[in-house]
Order: sequence, then C-alpha cells, then structure tokens
Amino acid sequence: MSAEEESAPIYKRRLRYPGKNPRRFEDKYKEHAAGNYPETLAKVVASGKTPVGTHRPIMVREILDTLKLAPGMLVVDATLGYGGHSAEMLPHICPGGVLIGLDVDGIEQTKTEARLRSMGWGQETFRVRLSNFAGIHKVIAEERWEGADAVLADLGVSSMQIDTPSRGFSFKVDGPLDMRMNPSRGQSASRFIESTKPDDLAVLFMENADEPHAAILGQGLAGRRFSGTTQFAAAIRNILSLSSSEDAEPAVRRIFQAIRIAVNDEFSALDNFLRSLPGSLRAGGRVAILTFHSGEDRRVKKSFQAGLQSGQYSGIAEEVMRPSPEECRSNPRATSAKLRWAVRADF
Ligand SMILES: C[S@@+](CC[C@H](N)C(=O)[O-])C[C@H]1O[C@@H](n2cnc3c(N)ncnc32)[C@H](O)[C@@H]1O
Repeated sequence: MSAEEESAPIYKRRLRYPGKNPRRFEDKYKEHAAGNYPETLAKVVASGKTPVGTHRPIMVREILDTLKLAPGMLVVDATLGYGGHSAEMLPHICPGGVLIGLDVDGIEQTKTEARLRSMGWGQETFRVRLSNFAGIHKVIAEERWEGADAVLADLGVSSMQIDTPSRGFSFKVDGPLDMRMNPSRGQSASRFIESTKPDDLAVLFMENADEPHAAILGQGLAGRRFSGTTQFAAAIRNILSLSSSEDAEPAVRRIFQAIRIAVNDEFSALDNFLRSLPGSLRAGGRVAILTFHSGEDRRVKKSFQAGLQSGQYSGIAEEVMRPSPEECRSNPRATSAKLRWAVRADF
C-alpha cells in the first residue's frame, strides 16, 4: 500500500437496501443519527410528527414556570429520556448549578449523554445515573446533597422506545414482544403473558387500562406464547372479533399499555418515588410531574394532597395543568399530558 493510500480516509459504505428508500428500521440511517439531518428533522416536526429516534419535550414553558429555576440550583431530571427537558433546564441553573439525569434505559441514556456533551454540557454541570427514580433518595445521599432544589418526572416511555421496533413496544411495526425499559432486568412481556394466570391478567387489564373486555382477553391471552408484537396485536383483535383496524386500535393500545405498566412495575416505582420525594427535596424545593395515564395522575394527586395535609408540602397545584391546544396540534403525543407540582415545606 502506498503512503498516499495509507493516509486516505476510510469511508464507510452506506447500508444496501432494495429500492430508493430503506424499508427496514435497521436500515433507516437517518433515524439512527437524527441529529445529523437537521433539515429532515425540522420538516417532520413542522408536519406535527416526532422524528423517529428523537423525543419532543412536552409542556416545557409550564414546567419552567413551575420549577422557578435559578443559577446554582441542584436539579434531578428523574426521567432523562432524550434529554429534551434537561437541555431546556440546564441554561437556567448556570452558573454553578448541577443537573443529574436518571433513567432506567441504558441504551438511550448513553446516546442522550453523548448528545448533551456535544452541546457543551460538561460533567461538572450535567451528570447521568442509570437508576430507577424510585431510588431518588439514594442518588441525593450519594451526591451528598442536602436535597434537590427541583425535581422533574415525565412519566411513561419515550418516543425513541416506542418507535424502535426491537424494543417491542410498538404494535404497528413487528418486533420481539419485550417492552422492558431496561432490557437487562425483569421478564419480557412475552414471558410475562405466558406465565400469568387468566384471572390475574384480567385484573391487570382492568386496573392498568380500564379495559372493558378484560375478562375475555385475560382468558384468551394468558398462558400463550407470543414472540412478536404484531402477532400479539392480531390475537387481541381476533379474540374481540374486531376486524376493522379502526375498532381494534383502542383495545390493542390499552392492552399494550397495561402489559407495559406491569412488565416495568411502573405503578410501584411511582409510589416509591412519591414517598421519597419530600425527603429528597430541600425546604422550598419544587417538584413537577407529567403524567399520561389516569392511574398515574390519581397517584400523584393523592400523594400531593396527603403531603399538603401532613405539612410535608407547603403548596400544591390546585388544578391539573394541561398542554395548550397549539402544543397538542403541533405534537399530538402531548394530548393526554397532565402536569402537577408541589413545594416542599420547611419541616
Ligand atoms: C417520556 S420519557 C422522558 C422524556 C424526556 N423528558 C425528554 O424530554 O426527552 C420517559 C423516560 O423515563 C424513563 N423511565 C420510566 N420509568 C422510569 C423509572 N421508574 N425510573 C427512571 N426512569 C424511568 C424511560 O425509560 C424514558 O426514557
């Protein structure tokens, strides 16, 4: 090899796919490096969609108004996700502030950390921890903080998790029936369904999704082995004999949500987080929680009301806050969002 050849840059050959545009998710090179295609990203956002591989933060202005961030503050973003809210909060706590982003999803957290580092946020200001927010008090203790000045939790799954077929959350595109936010812990949705009794599955469909056909679906699905998400969705439609996708869509969506909540133990993580919050905030510290499910909102509301009565909180949101109609129009994924806040009392 000549010296010239040796110093020549190595170009990576683009993936080969049949036709003009990639069809399989694995071949969609733009989705895997969304940040490298700002014009494509802007076009998709302008059309009211979320570009695959990204997540659009919801109710940003309302959250910033609620948390009243200031330079030097110590903040926990309990659900880092794509880092959309963190990127908006960080400028408000500089200079001198620190934001720690928690998430249970190590796959996305690594990418988010790299993205925020490339935006110029160094270790002294922005840190990440692979941690369930149920353990927020441990994170605060390990950081030797007296308490956080502000905590944000934006519950549920990120758009990246839903839109990546291999994570198994989507019933629109086939993937393994997994649904774990942290794929290295717990059991997949497929194993969960196979090992759960019909009556238990029916109760779960009722409790997690208010599913009107809970009993018949519990009977029809429990103990069966489903390998793929679309196969599972088809079984739900079959049991309900809903042939038109319009009728079937809400039922399939509810069952997927109910199973996801169970597989990731989402309600008990939220209950533990809510219990830990007063002890994780400093006096005057503020928390804002975004929910997308009535079961979550009920828990947040009750916990804040109980904290106000017992004197742990000095103030709470009297009314739930909702995204503006403009935000819902420009980002339909915001439509079911509810925001509540609380302020820690000096006890
Ligand atoms: C809706 S997304 C957050 C999006 C983020 N606010 C943004 O602007 O990019 C929710 C994130 O919370 C994470 N998550 C869900 N439950 C969690 C838990 N118990 N502890 C820590 N992270 C959790 C999910 O993995 C997901 O990344």
